[in-house]
Amino acid sequence: MFIDNSMILPDTHPALRKKCEPVALPLSKEDHDLLMDLMNHVRASHDKELQEKYNLRGAVGLAAPQIGVNKCMIAVGIPYDEDDDLEFALANPKIVSSSIQKCYLEGGESCLSVPKDVDGYVPRAARITVKGYDAITDQMVTVRLSGYEAIVMQHEIDHLSGTLYYDHIDKNDPFAPIPGAIVI
Ligand code: NI
Repeated sequence: MFIDNSMILPDTHPALRKKCEPVALPLSKEDHDLLMDLMNHVRASHDKELQEKYNLRGAVGLAAPQIGVNKCMIAVGIPYDEDDDLEFALANPKIVSSSIQKCYLEGGESCLSVPKDVDGYVPRAARITVKGYDAITDQMVTVRLSGYEAIVMQHEIDHLSGTLYYDHIDKNDPFAPIPGAIVI
């Protein structure tokens, strides 16, 4: 199945606010396929031809609830050179440790389920360790991430608890300085 734009739910849909259920391991074929469909959407969004064909927004991640499936599954794909992406297709991802130090994207975050970007700083842990079952390599993985990669992973894992990036923005002062934070 190719996940096109029509399948991605907006933040007004209740599925985006529901807590997701863990999936059984080993992954059923259905869950494995869905997780790879999420991954393939992210991959397609980095491909010029497919991007044009399907009118895709460039994406670095997609979570199952964004297509109305409230299961703990996320895909992350971050381009790091011309033809290589840092990729994870994770079932039941858990942040097992995170730094006290924060970081944030100077330009703010965006999300395929949020049609109009919400401005403001989104404080995230600067470094995290994540455990989960990776469907690309078919094994349990433990991953340490920092900076941008850590931000993307936290954004996607947030979707599994029904949290959206703008929930973290200071409503009264969206650009309030975050003490000690790394600016990215
Ligand atoms: Ni998102």
